[in-house]
Amino acid sequence: MNHPAIRKGAVAVITGAGVGIGYAIARRVASEGMNVVLFDRDAGALDVATKTLLNDFPDVRLLALKGDVTSESDLHRLYEKSCEFGEVSLLVNNAAIIKGAGPWDGMSKWRTLMDINFWSVLTLQQLFVETMFSQSGAAAIVNLGSKEGITTRPGNAAYSLSKAAVKVLTEQLAHELREKVGDRISAHLLIPGYTFTPMNFPGMAQDSQKPDSPWTADQVADRLIEGMAEGDFYIFCEDNESNWELDQRRMQWSADDMIQNRPALSRWHKDYADKFAAYVSDVADK
Ligand SMILES: NC(=O)c1ccc[n+]([C@@H]2O[C@H](COP(=O)([O-])OP(=O)(O)OC[C@H]3O[C@@H](n4cnc5c(N)ncnc54)[C@H](O)[C@@H]3O)[C@@H](O)[C@H]2O)c1
Repeated sequence: MNHPAIRKGAVAVITGAGVGIGYAIARRVASEGMNVVLFDRDAGALDVATKTLLNDFPDVRLLALKGDVTSESDLHRLYEKSCEFGEVSLLVNNAAIIKGAGPWDGMSKWRTLMDINFWSVLTLQQLFVETMFSQSGAAAIVNLGSKEGITTRPGNAAYSLSKAAVKVLTEQLAHELREKVGDRISAHLLIPGYTFTPMNFPGMAQDSQKPDSPWTADQVADRLIEGMAEGDFYIFCEDNESNWELDQRRMQWSADDMIQNRPALSRWHKDYADKFAAYVSDVADK
């Protein structure tokens, strides 16, 4: 049985729904009979997505809105139009970019990335949660995290920080909702693994051949629906490179950096390379 927020006739609002994981989630919830608001800054992608969904799910109502999550007025328009469209039972804060910056460079890139990956999430969450309080039905907010926001791999400090911020925000949201309304409104952190989307494969086409390592975006969307049905807060996805046991060890190693007073990000520190390799050796190749 599905999570009660995933129900026929209610509205799902999804940012970054033109391609990739956002589009796959739109397809998946449309297949459950939900009406969908697709929001994206890419008008072409939005157009293709809408036409395909209307063709495949003719009984479902769709609202496609072109806009940018960095624009407060676009976010307010999304909120207002969505509420006019029907009872919003699902908000998926999915839009994000990966192109970031390092610890001592690119201030303007940091600002843009945080506007897209973090501030838009907080803004929409705050707008929609009030409406969900005023409704009587079950509802859910799904925010998109990343393993890079948990074990915080070096190389893109801005992206890792934004995803760590979304993780903490969503944990706090889940707790406060539980205290206020029990399980009527839930929050979930969706954590994709390596996924076959334009974020990782710029310029990919619908019919591009998927390499072995990544999951498809549809697999991630299926895992979301399964995880929500199970009542999971952390909805963690593997991929064809990293199994769950390996991810568990990586997270444990990361937490142990502080407990064992190791250097920051010791997993990537040359003096710890052999120790880390030994720590995961029995699960790495499964
Ligand atoms: N692909 C992965 O391997 C992976 C792994 C972990 C987490 N994630 C997360 O999953 C989510 C979706 O990733 P994806 O791979 O499908 O991304 P993608 O780049 O393939 O698609 C993102 C969509 O968001 C839209 N978008 C970007 N900036 C926007 C803005 N400012 N305003 C409105 N729309 C905007 C784009 O036009 C695009 O349609 C992101 O939050 C990402 O961080 C992805």
